[in-house]
Amino acid sequence: MKVFISQKIPSVAEEMLTKQGFDVKINRKKSPLPSNDLIKLAKSSGGLLTLLSDKIDKYVIDNLPDLKIIANYAVGFNNIDVRYANSKGIIVTNTPGILTDATADVAMGLILACSRRFCEADEFMRKGKFEGWKPDLFLGSDLKNKTLGIVGAGRIGQATAIRAKAFGMKIIYFSRSRKHDFEKQTAAKKVSLAKLMKTADVISVHLPLTPATFHLLDKEELDLMKSRAILVNTARGEVINEKYLIKLLRSKKIFAAGLDVYENEPSVNPSLYKLKNVVLLPHIGSATVETRNKMAELAAKNIINVLKGKKPVTPVNV
Ligand code: DGY
Repeated sequence: MKVFISQKIPSVAEEMLTKQGFDVKINRKKSPLPSNDLIKLAKSSGGLLTLLSDKIDKYVIDNLPDLKIIANYAVGFNNIDVRYANSKGIIVTNTPGILTDATADVAMGLILACSRRFCEADEFMRKGKFEGWKPDLFLGSDLKNKTLGIVGAGRIGQATAIRAKAFGMKIIYFSRSRKHDFEKQTAAKKVSLAKLMKTADVISVHLPLTPATFHLLDKEELDLMKSRAILVNTARGEVINEKYLIKLLRSKKIFAAGLDVYENEPSVNPSLYKLKNVVLLPHIGSATVETRNKMAELAAKNIINVLKGKKPVTPVNV
């Protein structure tokens, strides 16, 4: 049976699949394929290993009638029409759990970079502007005793909070359900979204992108932020009204933002590049060698299981 891997990922996936006797084809280019090229190359495949930059919609699904599984190489799966795939009997899987720590590290890194102005200070150094210690050079904000608001207390949100707790931060969270173990571990308090936006000194977004979370942080919610607030997003850009956030940053209505994700990836609103009070990362939440290898292994394992008639390890449920 054929398996198509839509872009180059760690070779362990190809090795595992080949060892199991599958005919593995890979798009070796470092960019996503247009839908028609993907369909052409993946023709008659039973398994498709996709990246978050591949749009797997009704058109692609209808044109790959032999598919049994779409294994997304990401925890997010907003790039796939999961309901439609499921209605055609195709299983969709993702890679949860294994990228939690890597992504939480990036969220914490962005919190630190924003609160202590690392990127502005780095730019200042590279421009040769350093003339010695000064009492008011790049004054930032303490994290200790400040409040971190976690929007979406799933695995990554909780892992970020645990890190922040070690920095002496108090934790509040917004989530559909109460997380009792998390509350015990971090003394976190569940609050409404409005209360979180109003109270938190640092807000970190960890929600998946769904129709319900699109622009969840819109003008009304963003306007509630404190004037010294920091907003960090390592989830999906579309959860925040990015244009409005830019407006707030430009007029210095909040202290800073740290972004790993953007509303119209891969294009980035050029206004962001002009702002000093924003730290920009190129969607590297899960980008460690160890994590990416584990993601490749899990995606391959899901394909092997399904194509061998077993249960997938991490199916997506919508
Ligand atoms: C994911 O897995 O959804 C992340 O965004 C990848 O870094």
